[in-house]
Amino acid sequence: MAAKYSIPRGTFDILPENSYKWEYLKTTFKKVCETFCFKEITTPIFEKAELFERSSGESSDIVQKEMYKFTDKKGRVFALRPEGTAPVVRSFVENNLDKSSPVNKLFYYGPMFRYDRPQKGRYRQFYQFGAENFGSKTPYSDAEMIAMAYSFIKKLGLKNIRLEINSLGTKSSMENYDQALKEYFTPHFDDLCPDCQKRLEKNPKRLLDCKVKSCKQIAKDAPNLLEYLSDEDAKHFEEVQKFLKLMNVPFVINPKIVRGLDYYTNTVFEFLNDNLGAQNAIIAGGRYNNLVSEVGGNNIPAIGFAGGFSRLLLSLEIENLFMGEQSKPDIYFAAIGQEVKESATKIIQELRINGFKVEFDFEKGSLKSQLKSANKLKTRFVAIYGEDEIQKKSLVIKDFFDSSQEEILVKDVINYFSKKIS
Ligand code: HAM
Repeated sequence: MAAKYSIPRGTFDILPENSYKWEYLKTTFKKVCETFCFKEITTPIFEKAELFERSSGESSDIVQKEMYKFTDKKGRVFALRPEGTAPVVRSFVENNLDKSSPVNKLFYYGPMFRYDRPQKGRYRQFYQFGAENFGSKTPYSDAEMIAMAYSFIKKLGLKNIRLEINSLGTKSSMENYDQALKEYFTPHFDDLCPDCQKRLEKNPKRLLDCKVKSCKQIAKDAPNLLEYLSDEDAKHFEEVQKFLKLMNVPFVINPKIVRGLDYYTNTVFEFLNDNLGAQNAIIAGGRYNNLVSEVGGNNIPAIGFAGGFSRLLLSLEIENLFMGEQSKPDIYFAAIGQEVKESATKIIQELRINGFKVEFDFEKGSLKSQLKSANKLKTRFVAIYGEDEIQKKSLVIKDFFDSSQEEILVKDVINYFSKKIS
Protein backbone atom coordinates (compact mmCIF):
# COMPACT_ATOMS: atom_id res chain seq x y z
CA MET A 1 0.00 0.00 0.00
CA ALA A 2 1.38 3.42 -0.89
CA ALA A 3 0.20 6.05 1.55
CA LYS A 4 -1.09 9.22 -0.07
CA TYR A 5 -0.21 11.27 2.99
CA SER A 6 2.69 10.98 5.37
CA ILE A 7 2.90 11.87 9.04
CA PRO A 8 4.16 15.40 9.90
CA ARG A 9 7.90 15.58 10.50
CA GLY A 10 8.89 15.10 14.14
CA THR A 11 5.69 13.26 15.08
CA PHE A 12 4.97 9.56 15.46
CA ASP A 13 2.06 7.15 15.60
CA ILE A 14 1.65 5.01 18.67
CA LEU A 15 0.59 1.79 16.97
CA PRO A 16 -1.58 -0.86 18.66
CA GLU A 17 1.45 -3.09 19.18
CA ASN A 18 3.02 -0.34 21.33
CA SER A 19 0.02 1.35 22.94
CA TYR A 20 0.14 -0.84 26.03
CA LYS A 21 3.66 0.39 26.80
CA TRP A 22 2.42 3.98 26.93
CA GLU A 23 -0.49 2.90 29.06
CA TYR A 24 1.90 1.14 31.42
CA LEU A 25 3.97 4.32 31.82
CA LYS A 26 0.87 6.40 32.46
CA THR A 27 -0.63 4.05 35.03
CA THR A 28 2.71 3.57 36.79
CA PHE A 29 3.21 7.34 36.96
CA LYS A 30 -0.32 7.80 38.27
CA LYS A 31 0.20 5.16 40.95
CA VAL A 32 3.44 6.79 42.11
CA CYS A 33 1.80 10.25 42.21
CA GLU A 34 -1.04 8.86 44.25
CA THR A 35 1.35 7.40 46.82
CA PHE A 36 2.54 11.00 47.30
CA CYS A 37 -1.12 12.12 47.44
CA PHE A 38 -1.04 14.16 44.21
CA LYS A 39 -4.28 14.64 42.26
CA GLU A 40 -4.75 14.60 38.50
CA ILE A 41 -5.45 17.74 36.49
CA THR A 42 -6.07 18.05 32.74
CA THR A 43 -5.84 21.30 30.78
CA PRO A 44 -6.47 22.05 27.07
CA ILE A 45 -3.72 21.46 24.53
CA PHE A 46 -3.87 25.10 23.41
CA GLU A 47 -3.80 28.30 25.40
CA LYS A 48 -3.38 32.01 24.69
CA ALA A 49 0.13 32.37 23.25
CA GLU A 50 0.75 35.22 25.66
CA LEU A 51 0.56 32.82 28.62
CA PHE A 52 3.71 31.09 27.43
CA GLU A 53 5.39 34.28 26.29
CA ARG A 54 4.94 35.77 29.75
CA SER A 55 5.78 32.64 31.73
CA SER A 56 8.25 30.43 29.86
CA GLY A 57 10.21 33.60 29.12
CA GLU A 58 10.51 35.75 26.04
CA SER A 59 14.20 34.93 25.69
CA SER A 60 13.69 31.17 25.99
CA ASP A 61 14.13 28.95 22.92
CA ILE A 62 10.64 27.61 23.46
CA VAL A 63 9.09 31.03 22.95
CA GLN A 64 11.63 32.43 20.49
CA LYS A 65 11.77 29.56 18.06
CA GLU A 66 9.64 26.61 19.01
CA MET A 67 6.03 27.66 19.53
CA TYR A 68 3.27 26.43 17.25
CA LYS A 69 1.33 29.69 17.16
CA PHE A 70 -1.91 30.22 15.29
CA THR A 71 -4.65 32.79 14.95
CA ASP A 72 -8.26 31.60 15.23
CA LYS A 73 -11.22 32.82 13.18
CA LYS A 74 -11.74 35.77 15.51
CA GLY A 75 -8.11 36.87 15.37
CA ARG A 76 -7.14 35.51 18.80
CA VAL A 77 -3.55 34.29 19.02
CA PHE A 78 -3.15 30.85 20.55
CA ALA A 79 -0.30 28.37 20.88
CA LEU A 80 -0.23 24.60 21.09
CA ARG A 81 1.18 24.12 24.56
CA PRO A 82 4.96 23.65 24.50
CA GLU A 83 4.96 22.56 28.14
CA GLY A 84 2.52 21.80 30.97
CA THR A 85 3.54 24.10 33.82
CA ALA A 86 2.15 27.41 32.52
CA PRO A 87 -1.29 25.92 31.71
CA VAL A 88 -1.49 24.26 35.15
CA VAL A 89 -0.56 27.57 36.80
CA ARG A 90 -3.20 29.33 34.69
CA SER A 91 -5.81 26.80 35.78
CA PHE A 92 -4.69 26.96 39.42
CA VAL A 93 -5.14 30.75 39.44
CA GLU A 94 -8.33 30.83 37.37
CA ASN A 95 -10.05 28.21 39.51
CA ASN A 96 -8.82 29.66 42.81
CA LEU A 97 -7.50 26.28 43.83
CA ASP A 98 -5.59 27.88 46.71
CA LYS A 99 -8.93 28.74 48.37
CA SER A 100 -9.85 25.09 48.94
CA SER A 101 -6.48 24.04 50.29
CA PRO A 102 -3.25 25.86 51.23
CA VAL A 103 -1.18 23.22 49.42
CA ASN A 104 -2.18 21.74 46.08
CA LYS A 105 -0.30 18.77 44.67
CA LEU A 106 -1.19 18.11 41.04
CA PHE A 107 -0.07 15.78 38.26
CA TYR A 108 -0.83 15.55 34.56
CA TYR A 109 0.14 14.00 31.27
CA GLY A 110 -0.50 14.68 27.64
CA PRO A 111 0.93 15.85 24.33
CA MET A 112 3.16 18.94 24.10
CA PHE A 113 4.38 20.68 20.92
CA ARG A 114 7.69 22.28 20.10
CA TYR A 115 8.97 23.22 16.66
CA ASP A 116 12.51 21.96 17.10
CA ARG A 117 14.90 20.03 14.87
CA PRO A 118 13.76 16.42 15.29
CA GLN A 119 16.30 13.83 16.40
CA LYS A 120 16.42 10.72 18.58
CA GLY A 121 14.38 11.52 21.70
CA ARG A 122 13.31 14.95 20.41
CA TYR A 123 9.99 15.34 18.66
CA ARG A 124 7.65 18.11 17.58
CA GLN A 125 4.72 16.42 19.27
CA PHE A 126 5.86 14.57 22.36
CA TYR A 127 4.20 13.26 25.48
CA GLN A 128 5.04 14.60 28.88
CA PHE A 129 4.09 13.55 32.38
CA GLY A 130 4.51 16.17 35.05
CA ALA A 131 3.70 17.25 38.59
CA GLU A 132 3.46 20.57 40.38
CA ASN A 133 3.23 21.47 44.07
CA PHE A 134 1.67 24.85 44.88
CA GLY A 135 1.77 26.51 48.27
CA SER A 136 4.82 25.10 49.98
CA LYS A 137 8.22 26.74 50.09
CA THR A 138 9.99 24.45 52.53
CA PRO A 139 13.13 22.62 51.36
CA TYR A 140 11.26 19.46 52.32
CA SER A 141 8.79 20.03 49.45
CA ASP A 142 11.70 20.39 46.97
CA ALA A 143 13.08 17.07 48.18
CA GLU A 144 9.64 15.45 48.13
CA MET A 145 9.16 16.49 44.50
CA ILE A 146 12.54 15.10 43.49
CA ALA A 147 11.86 11.94 45.51
CA MET A 148 8.60 11.42 43.63
CA ALA A 149 10.37 11.56 40.25
CA TYR A 150 13.02 9.23 41.67
CA SER A 151 10.34 6.79 42.91
CA PHE A 152 8.86 6.65 39.42
CA ILE A 153 12.25 5.81 37.94
CA LYS A 154 12.81 3.15 40.63
CA LYS A 155 9.33 1.69 40.15
CA LEU A 156 10.10 1.23 36.45
CA GLY A 157 13.32 -0.51 37.44
CA LEU A 158 15.70 1.90 35.68
CA LYS A 159 19.25 1.78 37.00
CA ASN A 160 21.43 3.92 34.74
CA ILE A 161 19.94 7.25 35.69
CA ARG A 162 21.82 10.08 37.32
CA LEU A 163 20.25 12.93 39.29
CA GLU A 164 21.91 16.33 39.09
CA ILE A 165 20.77 19.25 41.21
CA ASN A 166 21.61 22.92 41.47
CA SER A 167 20.26 26.12 42.93
CA LEU A 168 19.70 29.32 40.96
CA GLY A 169 18.86 31.26 44.11
CA THR A 170 16.29 34.02 44.30
CA LYS A 171 16.22 37.29 42.35
CA SER A 172 19.10 39.09 44.09
CA SER A 173 21.43 36.05 43.94
CA MET A 174 20.56 35.67 40.27
CA GLU A 175 21.22 39.33 39.45
CA ASN A 176 24.67 39.19 41.03
CA TYR A 177 25.46 36.02 39.16
CA ASP A 178 24.19 37.35 35.81
CA GLN A 179 26.45 40.36 36.26
CA ALA A 180 29.46 38.12 36.98
CA LEU A 181 28.65 36.03 33.89
CA LYS A 182 28.38 39.10 31.67
CA GLU A 183 31.79 40.26 32.89
CA TYR A 184 33.26 36.81 32.27
CA PHE A 185 31.79 36.19 28.80
CA THR A 186 32.04 39.69 27.28
CA PRO A 187 35.78 39.44 26.42
CA HIS A 188 34.95 36.17 24.57
CA PHE A 189 32.02 37.72 22.65
CA ASP A 190 33.40 37.13 19.14
CA ASP A 191 33.98 33.44 19.84
CA LEU A 192 30.42 32.78 21.03
CA CYS A 193 27.76 31.26 18.75
CA PRO A 194 25.16 33.75 17.41
CA ASP A 195 22.51 32.42 19.87
CA CYS A 196 24.83 32.95 22.85
CA GLN A 197 25.76 36.42 21.64
CA LYS A 198 22.07 37.29 21.87
CA ARG A 199 21.64 35.49 25.19
CA LEU A 200 24.52 37.34 26.80
CA GLU A 201 22.49 40.52 27.29
CA LYS A 202 19.09 39.01 28.09
CA ASN A 203 19.82 35.74 29.87
CA PRO A 204 23.54 35.05 30.38
CA LYS A 205 22.90 31.86 32.41
CA ARG A 206 21.77 30.13 29.23
CA LEU A 207 25.36 30.33 27.98
CA LEU A 208 26.22 27.66 30.52
CA ASP A 209 24.15 24.96 28.84
CA CYS A 210 24.88 25.81 25.20
CA LYS A 211 25.79 22.65 23.29
CA VAL A 212 28.09 24.39 20.77
CA LYS A 213 31.68 23.17 21.27
CA SER A 214 33.39 26.58 21.35
CA CYS A 215 30.80 27.96 23.81
CA LYS A 216 31.18 24.87 25.99
CA GLN A 217 34.94 25.39 26.05
CA ILE A 218 34.60 29.02 27.13
CA ALA A 219 31.91 28.17 29.72
CA LYS A 220 34.24 25.66 31.37
CA ASP A 221 35.89 28.30 33.55
CA ALA A 222 32.84 30.51 34.09
CA PRO A 223 32.10 31.68 37.65
CA ASN A 224 30.41 29.09 39.86
CA LEU A 225 26.76 29.87 40.50
CA LEU A 226 26.79 28.39 44.00
CA GLU A 227 29.32 30.99 45.12
CA TYR A 228 26.80 33.72 44.32
CA LEU A 229 23.92 32.41 46.41
CA SER A 230 22.76 34.57 49.30
CA ASP A 231 23.06 32.99 52.77
CA GLU A 232 19.36 32.26 52.80
CA ASP A 233 19.40 30.64 49.35
CA ALA A 234 22.49 28.59 50.25
CA LYS A 235 20.77 27.40 53.44
CA HIS A 236 17.66 26.38 51.48
CA PHE A 237 19.81 24.38 49.08
CA GLU A 238 21.68 22.67 51.92
CA GLU A 239 18.41 21.69 53.55
CA VAL A 240 17.15 20.22 50.25
CA GLN A 241 20.28 18.07 50.15
CA LYS A 242 19.76 17.03 53.77
CA PHE A 243 16.24 15.79 53.00
CA LEU A 244 17.36 14.01 49.83
CA LYS A 245 19.94 12.13 51.88
CA LEU A 246 17.31 11.28 54.51
CA MET A 247 15.06 9.97 51.75
CA ASN A 248 17.90 7.94 50.23
CA VAL A 249 17.82 9.74 46.90
CA PRO A 250 21.33 9.78 45.40
CA PHE A 251 22.37 13.02 43.64
CA VAL A 252 25.33 15.04 42.43
CA ILE A 253 25.57 18.82 42.41
CA ASN A 254 26.09 20.35 38.99
CA PRO A 255 26.40 24.16 39.21
CA LYS A 256 25.97 24.42 35.43
CA ILE A 257 22.34 23.29 35.35
CA VAL A 258 20.36 26.41 34.51
CA ARG A 259 17.30 25.01 32.62
CA GLY A 260 15.85 26.37 29.40
CA LEU A 261 12.79 28.09 30.84
CA ASP A 262 12.94 31.48 32.54
CA TYR A 263 10.64 30.92 35.49
CA TYR A 264 12.95 29.00 37.82
CA THR A 265 14.18 30.16 41.23
CA ASN A 266 16.23 28.19 43.79
CA THR A 267 16.34 24.42 43.28
CA VAL A 268 16.60 23.00 39.77
CA PHE A 269 17.24 19.36 38.86
CA GLU A 270 17.58 16.89 35.99
CA PHE A 271 17.47 13.11 35.80
CA LEU A 272 19.83 12.07 33.01
CA ASN A 273 20.43 8.91 31.05
CA ASP A 274 23.75 9.09 29.21
CA ASN A 275 22.85 6.12 27.00
CA LEU A 276 20.29 8.24 25.18
CA GLY A 277 22.77 10.46 23.34
CA ALA A 278 22.35 14.23 23.09
CA GLN A 279 18.75 14.27 24.39
CA ASN A 280 19.65 12.71 27.70
CA ALA A 281 17.28 14.48 30.13
CA ILE A 282 14.39 12.19 30.97
CA ILE A 283 12.88 14.25 33.80
CA ALA A 284 13.63 17.86 34.68
CA GLY A 285 12.20 20.60 36.81
CA GLY A 286 12.65 23.04 39.59
CA ARG A 287 11.16 25.63 41.88
CA TYR A 288 9.36 28.66 40.46
CA ASN A 289 8.25 30.93 43.29
CA ASN A 290 7.28 33.96 41.18
CA LEU A 291 5.27 32.40 38.37
CA VAL A 292 1.87 32.17 40.09
CA SER A 293 1.88 35.90 40.87
CA GLU A 294 3.19 36.71 37.40
CA VAL A 295 0.20 34.87 35.93
CA GLY A 296 -2.13 36.98 38.12
CA GLY A 297 -2.42 34.84 41.23
CA ASN A 298 -1.39 35.37 44.82
CA ASN A 299 2.18 35.22 45.93
CA ILE A 300 2.31 31.41 46.05
CA PRO A 301 5.52 29.38 45.83
CA ALA A 302 5.65 26.30 43.63
CA ILE A 303 7.89 23.51 42.43
CA GLY A 304 7.48 20.82 39.79
CA PHE A 305 8.96 18.59 37.14
CA ALA A 306 8.12 17.06 33.79
CA GLY A 307 9.50 14.18 31.80
CA GLY A 308 9.25 12.73 28.35
CA PHE A 309 7.52 9.38 27.88
CA SER A 310 9.47 8.53 24.70
CA ARG A 311 12.82 9.04 26.42
CA LEU A 312 11.63 6.82 29.26
CA LEU A 313 10.58 4.11 26.84
CA LEU A 314 13.97 4.25 25.11
CA SER A 315 15.61 3.94 28.52
CA LEU A 316 13.46 0.91 29.40
CA GLU A 317 14.30 -0.72 26.08
CA ILE A 318 18.03 -0.19 26.58
CA GLU A 319 17.89 -1.79 30.03
CA ASN A 320 15.60 -4.54 28.75
CA LEU A 321 12.94 -3.86 31.36
CA PHE A 322 9.27 -4.80 31.65
CA MET A 323 7.09 -2.45 29.58
CA GLY A 324 3.61 -3.73 30.38
CA GLU A 325 1.53 -6.32 28.61
CA GLN A 326 -0.71 -6.29 25.57
CA SER A 327 -4.34 -6.90 26.58
CA LYS A 328 -5.65 -10.17 25.15
CA PRO A 329 -9.10 -11.76 24.99
CA ASP A 330 -10.28 -13.96 27.88
CA ILE A 331 -12.57 -16.01 25.68
CA TYR A 332 -12.60 -16.94 22.01
CA PHE A 333 -16.17 -17.67 20.96
CA ALA A 334 -16.38 -20.28 18.20
CA ALA A 335 -19.80 -20.69 16.60
CA ILE A 336 -20.62 -22.95 13.68
CA GLY A 337 -23.26 -22.07 11.09
CA GLN A 338 -25.01 -18.82 10.23
CA GLU A 339 -28.01 -19.35 12.50
CA VAL A 340 -25.83 -20.40 15.43
CA LYS A 341 -23.62 -17.35 14.94
CA GLU A 342 -26.65 -15.08 15.07
CA SER A 343 -27.79 -16.70 18.29
CA ALA A 344 -24.21 -16.45 19.63
CA THR A 345 -24.17 -12.64 19.27
CA LYS A 346 -26.67 -12.38 22.13
CA ILE A 347 -24.50 -14.41 24.51
CA ILE A 348 -21.35 -12.57 23.45
CA GLN A 349 -22.91 -9.15 24.04
CA GLU A 350 -24.00 -10.31 27.50
CA LEU A 351 -20.46 -11.48 28.30
CA ARG A 352 -18.94 -8.20 27.10
CA ILE A 353 -21.41 -6.12 29.10
CA ASN A 354 -20.27 -8.08 32.13
CA GLY A 355 -16.68 -7.09 31.47
CA PHE A 356 -15.27 -10.20 29.79
CA LYS A 357 -12.97 -9.72 26.82
CA VAL A 358 -14.50 -11.84 24.07
CA GLU A 359 -13.18 -12.31 20.55
CA PHE A 360 -15.56 -13.55 17.88
CA ASP A 361 -15.08 -13.77 14.15
CA PHE A 362 -18.43 -13.62 12.46
CA GLU A 363 -16.94 -14.38 9.07
CA LYS A 364 -14.81 -17.43 9.85
CA GLY A 365 -16.60 -20.61 8.78
CA SER A 366 -15.14 -23.85 10.09
CA LEU A 367 -14.51 -24.77 13.71
CA LYS A 368 -10.94 -25.64 12.74
CA SER A 369 -10.15 -22.15 11.47
CA GLN A 370 -11.75 -20.57 14.54
CA LEU A 371 -9.73 -22.77 16.90
CA LYS A 372 -6.61 -21.82 14.95
CA SER A 373 -7.38 -18.14 15.61
CA ALA A 374 -7.95 -18.84 19.30
CA ASN A 375 -4.61 -20.60 19.44
CA LYS A 376 -2.88 -17.65 17.77
CA LEU A 377 -4.43 -15.23 20.25
CA LYS A 378 -3.45 -17.52 23.16
CA THR A 379 -6.81 -17.10 24.87
CA ARG A 380 -7.31 -19.21 27.95
CA PHE A 381 -10.90 -20.19 27.11
CA VAL A 382 -12.70 -21.22 23.95
CA ALA A 383 -16.49 -21.39 24.03
CA ILE A 384 -17.87 -23.74 21.35
CA TYR A 385 -21.42 -23.26 20.19
CA GLY A 386 -23.02 -25.45 17.48
CA GLU A 387 -26.37 -26.94 16.44
CA ASP A 388 -26.30 -29.46 19.31
CA GLU A 389 -25.58 -26.79 21.88
CA ILE A 390 -28.38 -24.57 20.62
CA GLN A 391 -30.79 -27.44 21.15
CA LYS A 392 -29.48 -28.11 24.65
CA LYS A 393 -29.14 -24.36 25.44
CA SER A 394 -25.56 -25.08 26.40
CA LEU A 395 -21.92 -24.24 25.54
CA VAL A 396 -18.79 -26.38 25.50
CA ILE A 397 -15.95 -24.63 27.29
CA LYS A 398 -12.35 -25.58 26.69
CA ASP A 399 -9.88 -24.34 29.28
CA PHE A 400 -6.34 -24.32 27.88
CA PHE A 401 -4.94 -23.54 31.31
CA ASP A 402 -5.65 -27.04 32.68
CA SER A 403 -6.65 -28.71 29.38
CA SER A 404 -10.13 -29.41 30.72
CA GLN A 405 -13.42 -29.35 28.84
CA GLU A 406 -16.94 -29.06 30.20
CA GLU A 407 -20.46 -28.32 29.08
CA ILE A 408 -22.39 -25.57 30.83
CA LEU A 409 -25.85 -24.08 30.38
CA VAL A 410 -26.03 -20.75 28.54
CA LYS A 411 -27.96 -19.26 31.46
CA ASP A 412 -24.99 -20.00 33.76
CA VAL A 413 -22.31 -18.56 31.48
CA ILE A 414 -21.75 -15.25 33.36
CA ASN A 415 -21.63 -17.01 36.68
CA TYR A 416 -19.23 -19.61 35.30
CA PHE A 417 -16.72 -17.11 33.92
CA SER A 418 -17.04 -14.83 36.95
CA LYS A 419 -15.63 -17.68 39.01
CA LYS A 420 -12.90 -18.55 36.51
CA ILE A 421 -11.70 -15.08 35.51
CA SER A 422 -10.92 -12.49 38.11
P1 HAM B 1 11.63 20.77 29.97
O1 HAM B 1 13.01 20.54 30.46
O2 HAM B 1 11.46 21.71 28.84
O3 HAM B 1 10.80 21.26 31.23
O4 HAM B 1 10.98 19.40 29.57
C1 HAM B 1 10.88 18.33 30.49
C2 HAM B 1 11.18 17.01 29.81
O5 HAM B 1 10.31 16.83 28.70
C3 HAM B 1 12.57 16.88 29.22
O6 HAM B 1 13.50 16.52 30.21
C4 HAM B 1 12.35 15.76 28.22
O7 HAM B 1 12.35 14.48 28.86
C5 HAM B 1 10.94 16.04 27.71
N1 HAM B 1 11.01 16.79 26.44
C6 HAM B 1 11.16 18.13 26.29
N2 HAM B 1 11.17 18.46 24.98
C7 HAM B 1 11.01 17.30 24.29
C8 HAM B 1 10.94 16.98 22.89
N3 HAM B 1 10.99 17.91 21.95
N4 HAM B 1 10.79 15.67 22.55
C9 HAM B 1 10.71 14.71 23.50
N5 HAM B 1 10.77 14.95 24.83
C10 HAM B 1 10.92 16.23 25.22
C11 HAM B 1 9.46 21.55 31.19
O8 HAM B 1 8.73 21.31 30.27
C12 HAM B 1 8.95 22.13 32.49
N6 HAM B 1 7.52 22.42 32.33
C13 HAM B 1 9.21 21.18 33.63
C14 HAM B 1 8.69 21.70 34.95
C15 HAM B 1 7.53 21.37 35.54
N7 HAM B 1 9.30 22.57 35.71
C16 HAM B 1 8.55 22.82 36.76
N8 HAM B 1 7.45 22.11 36.67
